[in-house]
Amino acid sequence: EVPKKLAGRHVLVTSGPTHEAIDPVRYLANRSSGRQGHAVAAAAAAAGARVTLVSGPVTIPDPAGVAVVRVESARAMLAAVEAALPADLAVFAAAVGDWRPAETRDAKIKKDGHAPAPLALVENPDILATISARAEGRPPLVVGFAAETDAVLDNARKKIARKGCDLIVANDVSAEGGVMGGSENTVHLVARDGSVETWPKLDKEEVGRRLVARFAALLEARRG
Ligand code: C5P
Repeated sequence: EVPKKLAGRHVLVTSGPTHEAIDPVRYLANRSSGRQGHAVAAAAAAAGARVTLVSGPVTIPDPAGVAVVRVESARAMLAAVEAALPADLAVFAAAVGDWRPAETRDAKIKKDGHAPAPLALVENPDILATISARAEGRPPLVVGFAAETDAVLDNARKKIARKGCDLIVANDVSAEGGVMGGSENTVHLVARDGSVETWPKLDKEEVGRRLVARFAALLEARRG
Protein backbone atom coordinates (compact mmCIF):
# COMPACT_ATOMS: atom_id res chain seq x y z
CA GLU A 1 0.00 0.00 0.00
CA VAL A 2 1.47 3.32 -1.14
CA PRO A 3 1.10 6.24 1.30
CA LYS A 4 -1.22 8.85 -0.28
CA LYS A 5 1.33 11.63 -0.09
CA LEU A 6 -0.17 13.54 -3.01
CA ALA A 7 -3.84 13.37 -2.01
CA GLY A 8 -5.60 16.60 -3.01
CA ARG A 9 -2.85 17.64 -5.42
CA HIS A 10 -3.11 18.04 -9.20
CA VAL A 11 -0.06 16.69 -11.03
CA LEU A 12 0.59 17.46 -14.70
CA VAL A 13 3.01 15.24 -16.63
CA THR A 14 4.18 15.38 -20.25
CA SER A 15 5.51 12.20 -21.82
CA GLY A 16 6.52 10.61 -25.11
CA PRO A 17 7.85 12.08 -28.33
CA THR A 18 6.20 14.62 -30.58
CA HIS A 19 5.39 14.14 -34.25
CA GLU A 20 5.93 17.18 -36.44
CA ALA A 21 4.07 16.76 -39.72
CA ILE A 22 5.80 17.23 -43.06
CA ASP A 23 2.74 16.21 -45.07
CA PRO A 24 -0.29 13.98 -44.32
CA VAL A 25 1.85 10.81 -44.22
CA ARG A 26 5.31 11.92 -43.07
CA TYR A 27 6.63 13.42 -39.86
CA LEU A 28 9.75 14.19 -37.79
CA ALA A 29 9.96 12.31 -34.50
CA ASN A 30 12.43 10.87 -31.96
CA ARG A 31 13.05 7.59 -30.14
CA SER A 32 11.23 8.38 -26.89
CA SER A 33 8.93 5.53 -25.76
CA GLY A 34 7.15 7.52 -23.03
CA ARG A 35 8.02 4.87 -20.44
CA GLN A 36 9.65 7.18 -17.88
CA GLY A 37 7.00 9.90 -18.08
CA HIS A 38 4.18 7.38 -17.94
CA ALA A 39 5.82 5.75 -14.91
CA VAL A 40 5.92 9.12 -13.13
CA ALA A 41 2.23 9.67 -13.93
CA ALA A 42 1.32 6.18 -12.66
CA ALA A 43 3.28 6.69 -9.45
CA ALA A 44 1.67 10.09 -8.84
CA ALA A 45 -1.79 8.54 -9.25
CA ALA A 46 -0.83 5.72 -6.88
CA ALA A 47 0.22 8.41 -4.39
CA GLY A 48 -3.31 9.85 -4.48
CA ALA A 49 -2.88 12.77 -6.90
CA ARG A 50 -5.30 13.77 -9.62
CA VAL A 51 -3.07 13.32 -12.65
CA THR A 52 -3.26 14.81 -16.15
CA LEU A 53 -0.88 13.11 -18.55
CA VAL A 54 -0.30 14.98 -21.81
CA SER A 55 1.20 12.36 -24.07
CA GLY A 56 2.70 12.42 -27.52
CA PRO A 57 2.21 9.38 -29.77
CA VAL A 58 3.27 6.25 -27.83
CA THR A 59 2.50 2.54 -28.08
CA ILE A 60 2.52 1.80 -24.34
CA PRO A 61 -0.76 1.55 -22.38
CA ASP A 62 -2.34 4.45 -20.49
CA PRO A 63 -1.41 4.34 -16.78
CA ALA A 64 -4.25 3.39 -14.42
CA GLY A 65 -6.21 6.20 -12.81
CA VAL A 66 -4.79 8.98 -14.99
CA ALA A 67 -6.58 11.40 -17.35
CA VAL A 68 -4.70 11.15 -20.65
CA VAL A 69 -4.71 13.93 -23.25
CA ARG A 70 -3.23 12.72 -26.54
CA VAL A 71 -1.42 15.16 -28.80
CA GLU A 72 0.93 14.94 -31.76
CA SER A 73 2.90 18.16 -32.14
CA ALA A 74 4.85 20.35 -29.71
CA ARG A 75 2.42 23.20 -30.28
CA ALA A 76 -0.54 20.97 -29.46
CA MET A 77 1.32 19.73 -26.37
CA LEU A 78 1.85 23.31 -25.15
CA ALA A 79 -1.84 24.12 -25.70
CA ALA A 80 -2.90 20.98 -23.79
CA VAL A 81 -0.53 21.79 -20.92
CA GLU A 82 -1.87 25.34 -20.66
CA ALA A 83 -5.44 24.03 -20.72
CA ALA A 84 -4.65 21.59 -17.89
CA LEU A 85 -3.29 24.23 -15.48
CA PRO A 86 -3.43 25.02 -12.59
CA ALA A 87 -1.33 22.25 -11.11
CA ASP A 88 0.61 21.79 -7.88
CA LEU A 89 3.39 19.94 -9.66
CA ALA A 90 4.38 19.83 -13.34
CA VAL A 91 6.81 17.21 -14.63
CA PHE A 92 8.02 17.73 -18.20
CA ALA A 93 9.30 14.33 -19.23
CA ALA A 94 8.31 14.52 -22.90
CA ALA A 95 10.99 14.47 -25.59
CA VAL A 96 9.58 17.47 -27.40
CA GLY A 97 10.83 17.95 -30.93
CA ASP A 98 13.07 21.00 -31.04
CA TRP A 99 12.10 21.84 -34.61
CA ARG A 100 9.17 21.40 -36.96
CA PRO A 101 8.90 21.80 -40.71
CA ALA A 102 8.39 25.47 -41.55
CA GLU A 103 5.42 24.39 -43.65
CA THR A 104 3.12 21.35 -43.44
CA ARG A 105 1.88 20.38 -46.90
CA ASP A 106 -1.81 19.59 -47.31
CA ALA A 107 -1.16 16.89 -49.89
CA LYS A 108 1.44 14.13 -49.95
CA ILE A 109 4.69 15.36 -51.50
CA LYS A 110 5.16 13.37 -54.71
CA LYS A 111 8.34 11.58 -55.77
CA ASP A 112 8.99 12.94 -59.25
CA GLY A 113 12.52 11.83 -60.10
CA HIS A 114 14.12 14.98 -58.67
CA ALA A 115 15.58 15.52 -55.23
CA PRO A 116 12.94 17.23 -53.06
CA ALA A 117 13.40 20.79 -51.88
CA PRO A 118 15.41 20.96 -48.63
CA LEU A 119 13.21 20.68 -45.57
CA ALA A 120 13.15 24.10 -43.90
CA LEU A 121 12.76 23.89 -40.12
CA VAL A 122 11.61 26.37 -37.48
CA GLU A 123 11.99 26.15 -33.73
CA ASN A 124 9.19 24.79 -31.57
CA PRO A 125 8.01 26.54 -28.41
CA ASP A 126 9.82 25.39 -25.28
CA ILE A 127 7.02 24.13 -23.05
CA LEU A 128 9.09 23.77 -19.90
CA ALA A 129 10.59 27.26 -20.21
CA THR A 130 7.22 28.80 -21.08
CA ILE A 131 5.48 27.33 -18.04
CA SER A 132 8.44 28.03 -15.72
CA ALA A 133 8.36 31.71 -16.72
CA ARG A 134 4.65 32.23 -16.09
CA ALA A 135 4.03 35.18 -13.80
CA GLU A 136 0.62 33.86 -12.82
CA GLY A 137 -0.33 30.26 -12.36
CA ARG A 138 3.20 28.83 -12.35
CA PRO A 139 3.00 25.44 -10.63
CA PRO A 140 4.82 25.66 -7.26
CA LEU A 141 7.11 22.83 -8.34
CA VAL A 142 8.29 22.56 -11.95
CA VAL A 143 10.53 19.65 -12.93
CA GLY A 144 12.37 19.23 -16.22
CA PHE A 145 14.19 16.27 -17.70
CA ALA A 146 17.51 16.42 -19.52
CA ALA A 147 18.29 13.69 -22.00
CA GLU A 148 21.97 14.08 -22.79
CA THR A 149 24.54 12.06 -24.68
CA ASP A 150 27.58 13.84 -23.20
CA ALA A 151 28.56 16.18 -20.35
CA VAL A 152 25.33 15.14 -18.65
CA LEU A 153 25.75 17.11 -15.40
CA ASP A 154 27.29 20.23 -16.95
CA ASN A 155 24.48 20.45 -19.46
CA ALA A 156 21.84 19.81 -16.79
CA ARG A 157 23.23 22.63 -14.61
CA LYS A 158 23.09 25.03 -17.54
CA LYS A 159 19.61 23.82 -18.44
CA ILE A 160 18.08 24.44 -15.02
CA ALA A 161 19.17 28.08 -15.14
CA ARG A 162 18.10 28.58 -18.75
CA LYS A 163 14.71 26.92 -18.35
CA GLY A 164 13.82 28.40 -14.97
CA CYS A 165 12.59 25.13 -13.47
CA ASP A 166 13.14 23.98 -9.89
CA LEU A 167 14.74 20.60 -10.52
CA ILE A 168 16.20 18.67 -13.44
CA VAL A 169 16.20 14.91 -13.76
CA ALA A 170 19.18 14.21 -16.00
CA ASN A 171 19.94 10.95 -17.76
CA ASP A 172 22.43 9.66 -20.28
CA VAL A 173 20.68 8.63 -23.49
CA SER A 174 23.76 7.73 -25.54
CA ALA A 175 23.00 4.57 -27.52
CA GLU A 176 25.24 2.29 -25.39
CA GLY A 177 23.09 2.87 -22.29
CA GLY A 178 19.87 1.70 -23.93
CA VAL A 179 17.84 4.24 -21.94
CA MET A 180 15.76 5.51 -24.86
CA GLY A 181 13.10 2.85 -25.28
CA GLY A 182 14.70 0.63 -22.62
CA SER A 183 13.29 -0.43 -19.25
CA GLU A 184 16.00 0.95 -16.95
CA ASN A 185 17.37 4.37 -16.19
CA THR A 186 20.22 5.94 -14.21
CA VAL A 187 19.21 9.44 -13.17
CA HIS A 188 20.90 12.42 -11.57
CA LEU A 189 18.81 14.96 -9.67
CA VAL A 190 20.22 18.43 -10.28
CA ALA A 191 18.99 21.24 -8.02
CA ARG A 192 19.04 24.99 -8.63
CA ASP A 193 22.12 25.41 -6.43
CA GLY A 194 23.96 22.99 -8.73
CA SER A 195 24.00 20.12 -6.23
CA VAL A 196 23.63 16.65 -7.72
CA GLU A 197 22.25 13.40 -6.37
CA THR A 198 22.95 10.30 -8.46
CA TRP A 199 20.71 7.28 -8.10
CA PRO A 200 21.65 3.70 -8.94
CA LYS A 201 20.39 2.08 -12.15
CA LEU A 202 16.75 1.19 -11.50
CA ASP A 203 13.80 0.14 -13.61
CA LYS A 204 11.76 3.09 -14.84
CA GLU A 205 8.78 2.22 -12.62
CA GLU A 206 10.98 2.38 -9.52
CA VAL A 207 12.54 5.65 -10.74
CA GLY A 208 8.98 6.97 -11.13
CA ARG A 209 8.01 5.98 -7.59
CA ARG A 210 11.16 7.45 -6.04
CA LEU A 211 10.80 10.67 -8.01
CA VAL A 212 7.19 11.05 -6.89
CA ALA A 213 8.20 10.48 -3.25
CA ARG A 214 10.84 13.19 -3.63
CA PHE A 215 8.45 15.63 -5.33
CA ALA A 216 5.87 15.06 -2.57
CA ALA A 217 8.49 15.84 0.10
CA LEU A 218 9.56 19.02 -1.74
CA LEU A 219 5.94 20.16 -2.07
CA GLU A 220 5.34 19.43 1.58
CA ALA A 221 8.40 21.48 2.57
CA ARG A 222 7.29 24.41 0.39
CA ARG A 223 3.59 24.64 1.00
CA GLY A 224 2.82 22.42 3.96
O1 C5P B 1 16.47 21.62 -24.04
P1 C5P B 1 16.09 20.20 -23.84
O2 C5P B 1 15.17 19.69 -24.89
O3 C5P B 1 17.24 19.27 -23.64
O4 C5P B 1 15.30 20.22 -22.45
C1 C5P B 1 14.68 19.10 -21.97
C2 C5P B 1 13.55 19.49 -21.07
O5 C5P B 1 12.78 20.53 -21.63
C3 C5P B 1 12.57 18.35 -20.85
O6 C5P B 1 12.00 18.51 -19.57
C4 C5P B 1 11.57 18.57 -21.97
O7 C5P B 1 10.31 17.97 -21.67
C5 C5P B 1 11.48 20.08 -21.99
N1 C5P B 1 11.18 20.65 -23.32
C6 C5P B 1 9.95 21.24 -23.53
N2 C5P B 1 9.67 21.81 -24.74
C7 C5P B 1 10.60 21.81 -25.73
C8 C5P B 1 11.86 21.21 -25.52
C9 C5P B 1 12.10 20.63 -24.30
O8 C5P B 1 9.10 21.23 -22.62
N3 C5P B 1 10.31 22.38 -26.89
